[in-house]
Amino acid sequence: MVWAFVFVLLGACAQAEGTNVGLKGRVTQKGLEYGQRFGLELVKSLLQKKQVSDLSGSYAVPLVGDVGYSVSRIRIKDLQLNEPALSFSEGTGVRLVVSNAHILLSGDWRVTVLFIPDSGSFDLNVSNLSLSAELGLGRDDSGRPQVWSASCQSSIGRLDVKFHGGASWLYNLFTEALRRPLEHNINKQLCPEFRKGISDLERVLKTMPVSAKIDPFAEIDYSLVNKPVIARDHGDMDLKGEFFGVGKHRQSPFSPAPFALPEEGAHMLLLGLSELMANSAAFVYFTAGALRKNFTDNMMPKHSPIRLNTGSMRLFFPELKKLYPDMPMELHLSARKQPLLACRPDSLDLALFGAAEAFVILPNASRASVFLLDLDASLAGQLHLDSARIGASVALTSFNMSVAQSRVGPAQVKMLETVLKLVLRLVVLPMANKKLKAGFPLPSVYNLSLVNPQVRIHQGFVLVATDVQHTARAAGAG
Ligand SMILES: *[C@@H]1O[C@H](CO)[C@@H](O)[C@H](O)[C@H]1NC(C)=O
Ligand SMILES: *[C@@H]1O[C@H](CO)[C@@H](O)[C@H](O)[C@H]1NC(C)=O
Ligand SMILES: *[C@@H]1O[C@H](CO)[C@@H](O)[C@H](O)[C@H]1NC(C)=O
Ligand SMILES: *[C@@H]1O[C@H](CO)[C@@H](O)[C@H](O)[C@H]1NC(C)=O
Ligand SMILES: *[C@@H]1O[C@H](CO)[C@@H](O)[C@H](O)[C@H]1NC(C)=O
Ligand SMILES: *[C@@H]1O[C@H](CO)[C@@H](O)[C@H](O)[C@H]1NC(C)=O
Repeated sequence: MVWAFVFVLLGACAQAEGTNVGLKGRVTQKGLEYGQRFGLELVKSLLQKKQVSDLSGSYAVPLVGDVGYSVSRIRIKDLQLNEPALSFSEGTGVRLVVSNAHILLSGDWRVTVLFIPDSGSFDLNVSNLSLSAELGLGRDDSGRPQVWSASCQSSIGRLDVKFHGGASWLYNLFTEALRRPLEHNINKQLCPEFRKGISDLERVLKTMPVSAKIDPFAEIDYSLVNKPVIARDHGDMDLKGEFFGVGKHRQSPFSPAPFALPEEGAHMLLLGLSELMANSAAFVYFTAGALRKNFTDNMMPKHSPIRLNTGSMRLFFPELKKLYPDMPMELHLSARKQPLLACRPDSLDLALFGAAEAFVILPNASRASVFLLDLDASLAGQLHLDSARIGASVALTSFNMSVAQSRVGPAQVKMLETVLKLVLRLVVLPMANKKLKAGFPLPSVYNLSLVNPQVRIHQGFVLVATDVQHTARAAGAG
C-alpha cells in the first residue's frame, strides 16, 4: 500500500505511436561512466572466478619432434584493465573498448615428448590485449530487454610463458616456439568468450519478471513498450509503467499524452513518471473498492466541539435530533469516481470525488442511513525527495459539497460546507501532511542508492534526476 501510494504521488501521462508509455528511463554518459567503474569491479571478480577452457594441441619442436600438449586448470591470477572505454553506440547499444590490458594466468601443463609424459605448472603473461566489442540492445515480443553481440574484435600484443616442474628447464628453452600457437589459441577464444557471456546474460533476461505485485489489489507492469533508443550520449527506455488489478484483464482505460525527457547530462539517471502511472493505480484501487473508510466519533480529535452524534449534527440537519435524539453516528467515506492526478509545471493537481453517507447507530446497534453528501476537493501537491525517502505535502485549493440525499429534512448547506472546509484545513490536512512529510523509504534496487536526487514536476510527468552510488562502494569509501 505504501508503495502504491508513492507511485500514485510520483505518477505522472504518455503515448508513443499507439503504445502507452507510463515510465521513461534514461542513462546518460555520466551514468555509463559510473557503470563502467562499477562494472570493472564486477568484470574482475567474475573473471577471477571464471574457469578458462582447457587447451590442447601439438607443436613441432626442433630436435625433439612433435610435442602433444594439454593445459588445464587455467586461472586468472591478475588482471590489469586500464579503464575500459564504455560508450553508447548510436542506434545499436553499448560499445566496450579494452586496450592494453594485461592478464597473468596460471595453470597445469602436460606434455608427451617422445612418448614420455611429463607435467608441471606454468605462468602465462598476456600483455597488450585489446578487445573491441559492441553489445546490441533490443526488446523481445514479451517486452523484455534483449541483448546480442553486434561485433567483436580482439588482438594480443605479446605472450610470455614460464614453465615450472617436470623438465621445465627444457620447455623454457622452447617458449618462443610455443608462443605463436598459444597466442593464436587464446586470441581465437576471446570473442567466443565474450559472446558466451552475452548469451548467458540473454538467458537471464529471458526469465526476468516484467511485472510486480504491489499488494493484494495491484500489480505494476514495467515491460518495455519500445526498443531502447540509443543516441550518441544517452540510452532511453520506454516502459509501460501501468498498474493493473491482480489477476484482472489488462485492458487499460487510459489514452495519455506523450512526453519527452528534457535534455540534461548533469545526472546519471533520469526517470520520467507519467500521470498514467498514478491514474492507472487510482483506477485499480477505485475499482477494487479499496478507497473507503469509516469514521466513528472516537476517531475525531478529543477537543473537537463538534462530535459525531445527532446532538452535534442537528446544527446542520435541524430535524435530526427530533427523529433520533442523542444517538451516536457514523460516516462512511468512499470515492464516487476515481481520483485524478494531473501534473502541471511545478505542481501536482489532485482531484478527489467523494461521497459521505451518514448513519445513526440505533440502540439495537443497527444503522439507519440519514443523509448522503457529495464532497469534491482539489488539492495541490509538492514532492520532496532525498537519498533515502520520498515525501510530499498537500494543500487544499478548492472544496465543494452538496447534499445528494436526506431522510432527515432540509440541511443548512452553506454552514455545513464551511465547517467541513475548516475541518479539512485545520484537522485532516495537517494530519495527512505530518505523515506525508515523514515520507516513505525508497527501496534499494541492486544495492544502489540515490545521490543528490532532484524531483521536478513538468506538464504531464514527474522528473527525477539523480546520481546513484552502489552502497557497498559507499561503505567501502567511508
Ligand atoms: C608481463 O609482461 C609485461 C610486458 O611484457 C611486463 O611488463 C610484466 O612485468 C610481466 N609480468 C610478469 C608477472 O611477468
Ligand atoms: C598494443 O597493440 C596495439 C594494436 O593491437 C598497438 O597499436 C600498440 O602499439 C600496442 N602497444 C604496446 C605498448 O605494445
Ligand atoms: C464500514 O462499515 C460498514 C457497516 O458496518 C461495513 O460493511 C464496511 O465494511 C465498513 N467499511 C470499511 C472500509 O471498514
Ligand atoms: C432495530 O430497531 C429499528 C427501530 O428501532 C427497527 O426498525 C429495526 O428492524 C431493528 N433492527 C434489528 C436488527 O433488530
Ligand atoms: C467547485 O465548484 C466551482 C464552481 O462550480 C468549480 O469551479 C470548482 O471546480 C469546484 N471544485 C471542485 C473541487 O469540484
Ligand atoms: C547488497 O548488499 C548486501 C550486503 O552488503 C549483500 O549481501 C547483497 O548480496 C547485495 N545485493 C546485491 C543485489 O548486490
